Amino acid sequence: MFVYLLGTLFVCVSGVNGGTRTPYFDLTVYNDWPQFEDYVKGVAHDNPSFVQLKTIGRTREGRPLLGVRIGKPAAAGKRKIAVWFDGGNHAREWPAFHVAVYFIEKLVNGYLIDDKITKYVETLDIYVFPVLNPDGFVYSRTSSRAMIRQWRKNRAPENCTGTGPFQTDICCVGVDLNRNYDIGFSQKSYPFNNPCSDEFQGPYPFSEPESRAVRDFVMSSELYGRLYALVSMHTHGQLWILPYNYHKRTYPQDIKELEALANKAAERVFAYRETKYRVGTAADMLGTATGGATDWIKKNTPTKYVYVLELPPDMKTWFAFQVKPHWLIPIGKETWLGIEVIMDQVIEETKDFQPTENTADSTAEMRSPRFKQL
Ligand SMILES: *[C@@H]1O[C@H](CO)[C@@H](O)[C@H](O)[C@H]1NC(C)=O
Ligand SMILES: [Zn+2]
Repeated sequence: MFVYLLGTLFVCVSGVNGGTRTPYFDLTVYNDWPQFEDYVKGVAHDNPSFVQLKTIGRTREGRPLLGVRIGKPAAAGKRKIAVWFDGGNHAREWPAFHVAVYFIEKLVNGYLIDDKITKYVETLDIYVFPVLNPDGFVYSRTSSRAMIRQWRKNRAPENCTGTGPFQTDICCVGVDLNRNYDIGFSQKSYPFNNPCSDEFQGPYPFSEPESRAVRDFVMSSELYGRLYALVSMHTHGQLWILPYNYHKRTYPQDIKELEALANKAAERVFAYRETKYRVGTAADMLGTATGGATDWIKKNTPTKYVYVLELPPDMKTWFAFQVKPHWLIPIGKETWLGIEVIMDQVIEETKDFQPTENTADSTAEMRSPRFKQL
């Protein structure tokens, strides 16, 4: 409690005297959920003219699914193009959550100071959701024992139909939120149907409030028909992952464009400190995974550029989900350069497109070839 109060006090002091527009958040160490929660609320509170707090739902344990919308309000009667960046839904992938905060820092502190950032904030609505599985994240921070620190799933109540090497009817907690979406979901797919697997898909698609919240928000009138790019960050492997992943050699019809932009962004990341990403579908590079969030979004919404980033380190290191925290800022910096490439492309492609109210018409237009060529 004492530490928590002190943290809050420091937030206020640095917000007023530090000359920055964001609450204090130390990106050289791993933070806990309360720091993320205070940060996201604080940055919206301190910058009401262009940052809005978004709560898109609640977790199993009642925590808010929090993010921000960064963007100057649209002119009367206009809708802006939107982009979405998140820190993913896997509990142990702490670096991704921190890199999402780095993005908020860049945008909020660069607005009206850096021309490029000012353009992003004026032209786009940029949604950033640092942590889409706070329950799992909180749990993963409670012990350094591998079984806890390396937790991946949410904290869904235990299901006692699990199996192990020599046992049946074992009780296990949690659902892998990135297997819980309604794409390629099958009760027969092993190991995703085993409650004791790290990749348990849940009893049925969208059984989890965390995945329903994301689904409902991308389908809402606030976003549907104007969300043009979405990047979900995970760790680790240095992979720039394209859709689709529920089946091998299965792609959306605009895969060439998604691949070209991914290559361009990955080259930009490489130029910074030679962090080399492989570009492709995870299904082709690693193996199929059903029920993925980004696969579902690509298939069920008009959002064009949909990617998963597996941040550093590369695949050679076993189980390296949490880099040493002094790498968080370098990873934030290089990843941001790739994100800029994506936002530049979105602005270029949509400059003549004005999303209208969320009607069937605007959706049809967004899906049409004309929209894709803009
Ligand atoms: C437990 O998991 C199995 C396998 O997915 C599922 O069929 C069953 O409905 C689940 N039970 C509960 C209570 O969710
Ligand atoms: Zn992950």
